[in-house]
Amino acid sequence: MLTAAKEMLDKAKAGKYAVGQFNINNLEWTKAVLLTAKENKSPVILGVSEGAGKYMGGYNTIVGMVKGMIKDLDIDVPVALHLDHGSYEHAIKCIEAGFSSVMFDGSHYPILENIRKTEELVKFAHSRNVSIEAEVGSIGGEEDGVIGKGEVADATECKLIADLGIDMLAAGIGNIHGKYPDNWAGLDFKALAEIQELTGIMPLVLHGGTGISEEMIRESISLGVSKINVNTECQLTFAAATRKYIEEGHDILGKGFDPRKLLAPGYEAIKKTVKEKMELFGSVGQA
Ligand code: 13P
Repeated sequence: MLTAAKEMLDKAKAGKYAVGQFNINNLEWTKAVLLTAKENKSPVILGVSEGAGKYMGGYNTIVGMVKGMIKDLDIDVPVALHLDHGSYEHAIKCIEAGFSSVMFDGSHYPILENIRKTEELVKFAHSRNVSIEAEVGSIGGEEDGVIGKGEVADATECKLIADLGIDMLAAGIGNIHGKYPDNWAGLDFKALAEIQELTGIMPLVLHGGTGISEEMIRESISLGVSKINVNTECQLTFAAATRKYIEEGHDILGKGFDPRKLLAPGYEAIKKTVKEKMELFGSVGQA
């Protein structure tokens, strides 16, 4: 069974830890994240970008795969299946397909349009028991081919969006997707504290979880961040482990690679990364 993200994030906010959102790309990725969550008794959020959704065959396919895996592998921790950076149309598609959580990224719209669209989606999502994340202040870096610069959200705008009844709020505080440049200014904790002060108990979401120092992660959690998104780091460790396996020349029988063996080192690498993040975020043992 899938769980909406709201309850797990309210619990995380009260308990001063964060639940990890790990983006998935295929069956191996999904299995690695789900089994690691089970082994570490941690709640978990599976993130699906629109691009990953298309790649995996569509949202219905993903719902079927994830629900089937939860049943077959006896995953006994809370799992939310969440659309990452969705458009208005795709948020609706995911809710209809059976996702338990969606993010509507209206940060590129003028604030009034972001408010109007978010408000409509809150109604639709909640009528189906689905959680909804909204965004204020665009998060920079590359996401599905779109490159943006890390913006700092306006606290008053955050309050306006938070009051629409959303379940979690992604507020840009200088964070970006992908690797951080050497001259990155770091997270803006002053802005985060101000946003937290105005939005109160609203769980805050930190995107761009790859490459943020442990100190900054801890500080973010202490200032109200209850969900942290990680994508690039899993991609990097998966790619490095797969490349190493190929370079080691395992094609010894001349039959080509066994696909299951080829993907095994990458699968183990994702498990290791996810476990490390769950430990850092403090979600181990919280399920
Ligand atoms: P990274 O790719 O930087 O880990 O960020 C992931 C993310 O925020 C997905 O929304």
